[in-house]
Amino acid sequence: MRPMRPLRRTATAVAAASTMTLSLAACGALGVTGDSSEASPTKGNDITVGLLLPETANTRYDKFDYPIIRSKVQELTDKQGQVVYLNADADAKKQASQLQKMIDDQVDVILLDAVDAHAIADGVQKAKDAGIPVIAYDRLAEGPIDAYVSFDNELVGEVQGRTLLEAMGPDVDSSDKIVMMNGSPTDPNAKQFKAGALSELNGSVDVAKSYDTKDWKPENAQANMAQAIKSIGVNNIKGVYSANDGMAGGVIKALKAAGVTELPPITGQDAELDGVQRIVSGEQYMSVYKSYPQEAESAAEMAVAKVQGHDIQFDSLTQDQVDSPTDQDIRALLVPVVALTQDNIEETVVADGIYQLSEICTAKYKADCTSIGLK
Ligand code: BGC
Repeated sequence: MRPMRPLRRTATAVAAASTMTLSLAACGALGVTGDSSEASPTKGNDITVGLLLPETANTRYDKFDYPIIRSKVQELTDKQGQVVYLNADADAKKQASQLQKMIDDQVDVILLDAVDAHAIADGVQKAKDAGIPVIAYDRLAEGPIDAYVSFDNELVGEVQGRTLLEAMGPDVDSSDKIVMMNGSPTDPNAKQFKAGALSELNGSVDVAKSYDTKDWKPENAQANMAQAIKSIGVNNIKGVYSANDGMAGGVIKALKAAGVTELPPITGQDAELDGVQRIVSGEQYMSVYKSYPQEAESAAEMAVAKVQGHDIQFDSLTQDQVDSPTDQDIRALLVPVVALTQDNIEETVVADGIYQLSEICTAKYKADCTSIGLK
């Protein structure tokens, strides 16, 4: 198997990453609408989008991805289109049969967020043979996919690595030990997060222990962290790179179980509510906010445009290009991301309507919210 070539990012994606997220309106500007006047659509509004999501241990899928995709498909199809959603619970075999079921049921298009991007390639080929387009969602599935929508995942890792170094302070030294808690080895995103982070961390700190965490499960991260503590010594750990918020929760449990009261800086990703609250209280240093509406609504727009034969709109949504180990020059949309710290909670997740301030600043976090100016 040939190693994956790096993603080709658009200049705009990189530039926007250091500032705020793109406005949602800007994203919708290229979108398709149910009453598009484009010539000869292949299907009307009565369409079925199959949605395959990978797991439930991390909250984003049921809380954001699915409901946003469903309501966007409804909006684009005058409420006639439907989304059939199946979740694989981190089981690659289960996902393969879910994909087969969607092929048997002859859905019109499939959005696939793979548990195991390599193992699912046969299923993707079967869908293609059955004439059903497959759009890889968030994780780049192998096989003949029609397009890919995700975030700029290498940039996610860079942002995490850079922010961790900032948190460790100006005196950070190449002998300072950190632990790396990476994601699942079957998820190509995890490799990209890791590569992006290492591009920042290598040479600046000592990565004393590094783990690829099975199924991205918080409890596996907790067990790995307990082992790292044993081997490195709890007082020698100056920072923890955790690839997402769910695992950061597991890392923190392990550190507390080892008696730590002053936690070292810990990273995350996903802006999960628990993660944002830990940022407020200072237990977690940062997360990466990835605008779910931008990714999920764009996926819905691509799926509907594909089925309805709106090629111009489909092309305008997929201006980036990526290569997978099996396919080259895949049309893609890579959405930029932003580091989330105590400083920008209001301008990111609150401004985008992801959370109300009242959800974040519950009784337990009220004092912490006030002390960082959130009210
Ligand atoms: C996603 C992350 C998520 C992780 C675990 C990755 O592919 O991009 O947002 O935290 O999977 O589900």
